[in-house]
Amino acid sequence: MTIQRVAIIGSGTMGSGIAQVCASAGLRVNLIDVSEAALQRGLRSINRNLDRMVEKGNISSSARSDALTQITGTTDYGKVKGVDLVIEAATESLELKLRILKEVEALSAPETVIATNTSSISISQLAAVLANAERFVGLHFFNPVPLMALVEVIRGIQTSESTLSAATDFARSLGKTPVPVKNRPGFVVNRILCPMINEAIFVLQDGIATAEEIDSAMKLGCNQPIGPLALADMIGLDVLLAVMKVLQDGFGDPKYRAAPLLREMVDAGQLGRKSGRGFYVY
Ligand SMILES: NC(=O)c1ccc[n+]([C@@H]2O[C@H](COP(=O)([O-])OP(=O)(O)OC[C@H]3O[C@@H](n4cnc5c(N)ncnc54)[C@H](O)[C@@H]3O)[C@@H](O)[C@H]2O)c1
Repeated sequence: MTIQRVAIIGSGTMGSGIAQVCASAGLRVNLIDVSEAALQRGLRSINRNLDRMVEKGNISSSARSDALTQITGTTDYGKVKGVDLVIEAATESLELKLRILKEVEALSAPETVIATNTSSISISQLAAVLANAERFVGLHFFNPVPLMALVEVIRGIQTSESTLSAATDFARSLGKTPVPVKNRPGFVVNRILCPMINEAIFVLQDGIATAEEIDSAMKLGCNQPIGPLALADMIGLDVLLAVMKVLQDGFGDPKYRAAPLLREMVDAGQLGRKSGRGFYVY
């Protein structure tokens, strides 16, 4: 099955990024949000990103206009009708996603592939709400979507071969590199990345080195483009703590316990860049 028309539910950071790459690849996109204000924010951010790409000479201004004409923004869920793929990219909440997926299934044709961009919820658990769970798959994009090459394609226990292959081909058609992944907490990237950052917080908490020294050591010693603590500030310390909880609950293994300093900073509202203070001051 070739995917040509896509509906994206949620026009936040991820939904708007996914809409932009789909439109730039020539696909028709219906971008859907419950909130008109959020929808307009998403559309403005796509406009700004495409403008910046034209200024930098990465795309022509006609490619920019072509991409924009591919996107229809709406608050009408009815616009999931007639598409080949629906990607749910709404706020990370199990109840909300279950509600959205049920509604999407009720409105879409039986052959429509339904995907979620969740970072932490089980694909098999979300699939269980659908009458036809075989057509459900995880498509985990990374932020910022236009710049990040990876898409984890996550297979729930119910996901069919044909759904998996349609999702994989779709990711490739966007110029991304799909990596097939089984449905386990944190998938691949967050399961490795978040404990590494958490360990850097233990190192800081133990007074082994300062934040600047830890970041500098990891950049110079491991060729990382950004140190783990600076990266934690970008991700958001609350998001990082939530992922550690998902890993610890999901595997029942104490090796995933969050560093006490991480918990304390989240309790204090020091969430990183978005709050103006984390391991660094912004
Ligand atoms: N931000 C990241 O770095 C990142 C990376 C990978 C995956 N994700 C996942 O992507 C999803 C979205 O994250 P985000 O960072 O874009 O969040 P966000 O807060 O930027 O955007 C969420 C959007 O969902 C909308 N929304 C809420 N309820 C809705 C509903 N019922 N119907 C339609 N839209 C609704 C909100 O209005 C908002 O615009 C989450 O599942 C998250 O785990 C996030």
